[in-house]
Amino acid sequence: MSLIQIKDKCFRTFIPEEQIQKEVIRVADEISRDLQGEAPVFISVLNGAFMFTSDLMKNLSIPCEISFVKLASYQGTVSTGEVKELVGLNTDISGRTVVIVEDIVDTGLTMQALIKKISAYHPKEIRIATLLLKPEKLKIDLAIDYVAMHIPNDFIVGYGLDYEGLGRNYRDIYTIVE
Ligand code: IMP
Repeated sequence: MSLIQIKDKCFRTFIPEEQIQKEVIRVADEISRDLQGEAPVFISVLNGAFMFTSDLMKNLSIPCEISFVKLASYQGTVSTGEVKELVGLNTDISGRTVVIVEDIVDTGLTMQALIKKISAYHPKEIRIATLLLKPEKLKIDLAIDYVAMHIPNDFIVGYGLDYEGLGRNYRDIYTIVE
């Protein structure tokens, strides 16, 4: 186990790189199987999903497109529930199968807002792929199609996820030490 310090908080290794990669490959295989013949558009939610998106795309075996969007609603370690505008969608998704790629679904409010905004562009279908899900925190009824890993209700960093802008570069996922 290794410990890292980010600003005022200490974190310990929680999910090692090898396990993350194994689960990402499993999700990529499921998507490739389910969406064969669809040529889906992947909508990756920045900043947190950048590493997951990269590894996911490298392991897909179907033709696909990608667009990166931003919709931030999180400050510090507590979800605010506040939702900002969707920016950066530069692909025509009307009539297309869309897969939203997120780093983590916590309360689910960000995902709910994203689905609403993306639906306005009239895609054929919206699927959701998330690296992580905190089932105990989920506030709403959300059908998530692909989950790489379920985790407890603790704050984590690494593999794209940050604490106050830091920690996204780690290959492993770390959990907070209270
Ligand atoms: P939700 O709206 O509560 O589902 O929050 C979703 C967003 O909060 C994610 O896209 C992350 O950016 C952020 N988030 C939620 N939990 C964590 C965490 O444990 N570490 C870092 N960011 C998190």
